Amino acid sequence: MSPSDFDFSSLPRRAEVIEVCPRDGFQNVRVPIPTSEKIAMLDALAEAGFRTIEVTSFVSPGAVPQMADAAEVMADFKRKHGAIEAVALVPNAKGAERALSAGADTLNFVLSASESHNRENTRRTVEESLSELAEVCRLRGNKKVHVSVATAFYCPFEGEIAKESVLKIIGRALSLGCGGVSVADTIGTAHPVKVHDTLSAVRKEYPRERIVLHLHDTQGMALANTLTALFLGYDAFDGAVGGLGGCPFAPGAAGNVSTEDLVNFLERLGVKTGVDLAKVLAVARGIPGRLGVPLCSHLPGAKSSASAGCGSSA
Ligand code: COA
Ligand code: ZN
Repeated sequence: MSPSDFDFSSLPRRAEVIEVCPRDGFQNVRVPIPTSEKIAMLDALAEAGFRTIEVTSFVSPGAVPQMADAAEVMADFKRKHGAIEAVALVPNAKGAERALSAGADTLNFVLSASESHNRENTRRTVEESLSELAEVCRLRGNKKVHVSVATAFYCPFEGEIAKESVLKIIGRALSLGCGGVSVADTIGTAHPVKVHDTLSAVRKEYPRERIVLHLHDTQGMALANTLTALFLGYDAFDGAVGGLGGCPFAPGAAGNVSTEDLVNFLERLGVKTGVDLAKVLAVARGIPGRLGVPLCSHLPGAKSSASAGCGSSA
């Protein structure tokens, strides 16, 4: 191994962290969260320096009842925080129409690299979802369409996903005029070797496009995967405050990499995020009391570096 393999000075100087808890986190909370709680948490997150927040999803309320108040949440957010890019996840044209009338800036169209997960999640074949994406692109007006490729590394039903499937979907999305793509480890079972293999192929094929990495932390490898992506030059990552999250239609999926652990990790590597970690931590610490769910992250419970450490008896 040559020393340059660990040349940390080659890492991006800045990275964007996109907060997705209000969508990915809330969708996996079984008990209905009052709309006022969602809005209060979004207001607090809006103060923490994110340029982009995924505010909600416009999906069938039959499929995900937690998101039935999407229009109210989005409209409130845009009224109060117009300078922040408000993203809405959508699975179809109907979701896109609802999101646009509620004021979303960006439509995040979701489809899966695996046929089986796409059918579970959206009841469509991948090809049918791509036709739906073409319709969403026609509807968008002057708004942006971003595409999330779910199960891009592993699928809960089909196992390992070939990178060619991911490359094909990205190619189709970009040819429709989409402004960016997220590559998602939906069930959190990717590891650095797989991430390196897929993401280096993606970068080679699409060197200039905006590619976001969306990681879940089921097996505790999300930060190792983040580091792998950083060494490949990736500089945009989703995170969910508190480490909440998970697709209700992907068995075994645990939460997203937590925003607080991700921001702490990036900043300690010297990669600037522009995110106020203290404000994110304050939101995270309020989650168990406000939403009745436990935190799935390290930093909120960690002692300060002065008092923590191996051998500490405190
Ligand atoms: N928003 C609100 N309602 C919607 C909708 C949307 N985006 N899309 C469909 N519907 C409604 C239809 O109007 C119809 O209502 P009706 O029964 O009152 O007439 C009903 O849902 C069924 O519509 P259909 O087109 O047959 O959808 P479906 O039952 O095949 O479900 C999806 C397809 C994509 C709408 C649904 O599977 C879904 O919302 N999936 C998203 C899952 C998700 O959020 N996963 C986690 C994020 S990755
Ligand atoms: Zn996710």
